[in-house]
Amino acid sequence: MAKNKTQYICNACGADFPKWQGQCPACNEWNSLEESIELKTQHRYASIAKTTPNQKLSEIALEDFGRISTRIPEFDRVLGGGLVDAGVVLIGGDPGIGKSTLLLQTLANLSLDGIPVMYVSGEESAAQIALRAQRIDSDAPDLVVYPEIQLDKILYSLETEKPKVAVIDSIQTIYSDQLTSAPGSVAQVRECAAQLTRLAKSTGISLILVGHVTKEGNIAGPRVLEHIVDTVLYFEGDTQSSFRLVRAIKNRFGAVNELGVFAMTEKGLKGVNNPSALFLSQSSDAVPGACVLVTQEGSRPILVEIQALVDSSHIPNPRRLAVGLEQNRLAMLLAVMNRHAGISCFDQDVFLNAVGGVKISEPAADLAVLLAIQSSLKNKALPKDLVVFGEVGLAGEIRACPRGQERLREAAKLGFKKAIIPKANLPKGVQFDSMEIHAVERIEVA
Ligand code: TYD
Ligand code: MG
Repeated sequence: MAKNKTQYICNACGADFPKWQGQCPACNEWNSLEESIELKTQHRYASIAKTTPNQKLSEIALEDFGRISTRIPEFDRVLGGGLVDAGVVLIGGDPGIGKSTLLLQTLANLSLDGIPVMYVSGEESAAQIALRAQRIDSDAPDLVVYPEIQLDKILYSLETEKPKVAVIDSIQTIYSDQLTSAPGSVAQVRECAAQLTRLAKSTGISLILVGHVTKEGNIAGPRVLEHIVDTVLYFEGDTQSSFRLVRAIKNRFGAVNELGVFAMTEKGLKGVNNPSALFLSQSSDAVPGACVLVTQEGSRPILVEIQALVDSSHIPNPRRLAVGLEQNRLAMLLAVMNRHAGISCFDQDVFLNAVGGVKISEPAADLAVLLAIQSSLKNKALPKDLVVFGEVGLAGEIRACPRGQERLREAAKLGFKKAIIPKANLPKGVQFDSMEIHAVERIEVA
C-alpha cells in the first residue's frame, strides 16, 4: 500500500496544496486550508474506469436508463422524468426548507409501490423520522430507516440491503474513518460523496444526497460535490411564505432550470399545478410600480409580478436594491433608460422585488423591470391585465425572447388581455383573439 500523504484542502474552493498557508492562493480566502490525508490507494472514479473497456461510439449499446417515477409530479418534472438507476442526485437548500420532508414523502411513495428503499439519516433519530412520517400521513411499513453517520457502515448496509433508491440525509454529517478532518469539512464531504457515488454506479442504486448550503449559498462550500454527482437540485423559497421551489441546476438526464413548485402544508409538501397564481400579488386594484412578467422556467412559462419602488434619495449614492433579480442588471437597465428614453433616476433610490420569493435570472425580465420602475416614478399604475416580456440591449433595442408564443398562451389562459412584447416575437399566423398585443422595437416606444 502506498504511503498516505498529508495535503491541505481549501474549505472555500476545494483546491489542494502540499503545504499549509494562511491564505488560499486559488481563491484568496484567509485561513481556509485544512489538513487531510490524500489516499493513494483508491481513486474516486475507479468504478467507472475499471468496468468499461474502450469502445467505438457506434458499438455502444444504447440502453434507456430505467426511470423510477417518484409519484410526485412536480419532483419528477425537475428530475427530468423521475429518478434514474445508478443516478446520483444532490439536493441542497437552507435548513428547514423541506428537504427531509420531500425525500421522506418520495421514499414512502416508492415503498408503497413495492420498491425497496432506504433512508439513511445522520441528523435525526429513527423515532424522529417515524414521527415525521406519521405527520405527513405516510404509512409505508417497508421503508427502511437507518440512523448512521459512519461511511463504511453505510456503504456496507447499502451493499447488503440492496435498496433501489436510497437517501443520505445529509452528506455533511457522514464521515470516513480514513480522514482526520472533522465531518462536514470539504475533505470529508468530497470523500464520502465520491465513495457513495462509486457504490451507486457499481450497484445501480439510485442515490439522493442532501447537502447543506453555506452562508454564501453554495452546497458544502466549494463546488466539488456538484462535479461528482449527476443532478444538482436547489430548494428555494421564502421562509416567510409556504411556497418552495425546487430548481435543477445541473442534470445529466434532463433539462436544467426546470422548476418544481411546492406548498408546505400541515401534511408535508404538496405540488402546485398552477404556479403562476402564486407569483402574482393578491391586490385587486392596479398599483403603481407593479408589472406582470411572463418568464420561462425550464419547459413552462410562469407569470411573476415585478414590483418597483422609486423614491427620492437623500444620500449621495442612491440605493439600488433588487430582491430576486440581478443587481448589476438593474444598474445597467437604469443607464439604458436614462440614455435612450431620457428617464433618469440618478437622485432616486430604486428598490425591486419579484413577488413570491422567486429568483429570476432571465434577461427577458428587463422590459418588465423598466416598466415597473417607470410606473413607480410617474406614480401611474399599469393596466391590471397587462403582461410584458422582452430583453433590453445596451443600445436601447428590445430583443426577442425564446418561446414567445408559449408565454403569450399562458398569459391568455390566465385571463390577461394586453401584452407588450418584442417585435420579433410577434406571433405569425397564430391568432390571439382575446389579446391586444403591442409589439415594440425600442424602449422609448414602450
Ligand atoms: P425539513 O424537511 O425538516 O427541512 P430540512 O430537511 O430541509 O432541514 O422541514 C421542516 C420544516 O417544515 C419545519 O419548519 C416544519 C415544516 N413542516 C410542515 O410545515 N409540515 C409538515 O408536514 C412537515 C413534515 C414539516
Ligand atoms: Mg433535514
